[in-house]
Amino acid sequence: MGGKRESIHGVWSGRLAFVLAATGSAVGLGNIWKFPYIAGENGGGAFVIVYLCCIGIIGVPIMMAEVMLGRRGRRSPINTMRHLAREAGASPHWRWLGWAGVAAGFLILSYYSVIAGWALAYVWRSAGAMFVGATSEGVASIFDQLVTDPERLIAWHTLFMVMTMTVVARGVRSGLEKAVRYLVPALFVLLIMLNGYALASGAFDQGLEFLFTPDFSKLSANGFLIALGHAFFTLSLGMGAIMVYGSYLPERTSIAKTSITIAFLDTLVALLAGMAIFPIVFANGMDPGAGAGLIFQTLPIAFGHMAGGVVFGTLFFVLLVFAAWTSAISLIEPAVAWLVENHGMTRVHASVVAGMITWTAGLLTVFSFNLWSDFHPLAFIEIFRTATLFDLLDYLTANIMLPLGGLLIAVFSVWVMQRDDSVQELDMGDSAGFRLWYFLVRYVTPVAVIIVFLNVTKLVNFSALLGLAE
Ligand code: TRP
Repeated sequence: MGGKRESIHGVWSGRLAFVLAATGSAVGLGNIWKFPYIAGENGGGAFVIVYLCCIGIIGVPIMMAEVMLGRRGRRSPINTMRHLAREAGASPHWRWLGWAGVAAGFLILSYYSVIAGWALAYVWRSAGAMFVGATSEGVASIFDQLVTDPERLIAWHTLFMVMTMTVVARGVRSGLEKAVRYLVPALFVLLIMLNGYALASGAFDQGLEFLFTPDFSKLSANGFLIALGHAFFTLSLGMGAIMVYGSYLPERTSIAKTSITIAFLDTLVALLAGMAIFPIVFANGMDPGAGAGLIFQTLPIAFGHMAGGVVFGTLFFVLLVFAAWTSAISLIEPAVAWLVENHGMTRVHASVVAGMITWTAGLLTVFSFNLWSDFHPLAFIEIFRTATLFDLLDYLTANIMLPLGGLLIAVFSVWVMQRDDSVQELDMGDSAGFRLWYFLVRYVTPVAVIIVFLNVTKLVNFSALLGLAE
């Protein structure tokens, strides 16, 4: 590794900049939109416990591994993997891991952008006082009118993609760093306020009980996989996003501390969102398993009844858009960095190309909520009986590609890369902390991912062995 180890795309200005950018990537729709709705669909408490365990035992160590690989490789994930494989004397095929990550990023962003478009649309609905005095039926019908109209969805999706590609085109330093500094704290404040409303809703206890009282008879094998997949999704792991951010990380920054901080903040946001939403669900007699529209059908009720709700509601959706924005950027950054490195494109050119491909793929999600809402391509598989293209895309990426990517990142970091190299790169010496990390990544992650996969495919039915739900 001759010469100065610095990425051609630039370097973060320091540790704080990296923490902010990585937190910006991690905190997004996954925390506020996805976590509550999948927790609701999978029965609550038991799902939440499995998710939290996955964050601590798998998420944090894999995040450290990804940052480490990125910082050592100093390139886009594809070239980082190629380079590090050569350094370790391993097969050049490892670069396919980088490719799979780029593919996963495209596919995730394609639907992520459509949902972020809903949030954009809700900024106007909230500012226009459409939620004032709203009932659960009223809010549901506002949501229905939006998602059943493909033209509106395409317009918002287009706007969000343009916003994303504009920032990406400007590069890592100028755009990405700044937004997060105010955004994440502001989001915290609003979520805490919403918790205040939830506390007064009369069903706060019921909401907490749903979220935190585990009932393993409600958690299916598929629920386990969804919890695992979501741990990767919410921390932006398994596809190279954090790797590429790591490649802009200055040397001598503690990877362990940074990763723990990011995971902690991310989890806090998700739990605060859940604690705000479920009391509203129960207080209004709604269904926690309502699906992808959950936050759009619950939070407006809160805004519609609280003092200053128009202002707070608008602010909330603005912040949600920002949170999604800083995440979307990281989903496309690996592809853009690669186009710049290998095809000599300018960042602007690369952003336009990547953006257009993603936008087109996004139409599959747009139509899943209207024209093709009855199209269930894999209906012959029980768990996909009613799954739309959007559901399948989400399942394929979050629950299959990310855990598999994470598994391979784990294997590469501790089975392929030299142990001495990781000792050096993580900069913790051969301490107890390092050994714990090494053990978790070497054994726990691979075994856990494989067990959860085998279980969901029923190749080995651990759920039945343990007497859990089918
Ligand atoms: N973590 C983000 C969220 O929770 C989404 C995201 C951004 C992501 N980059 C990623 C998910 C990379 C997987 C991989 O909203």
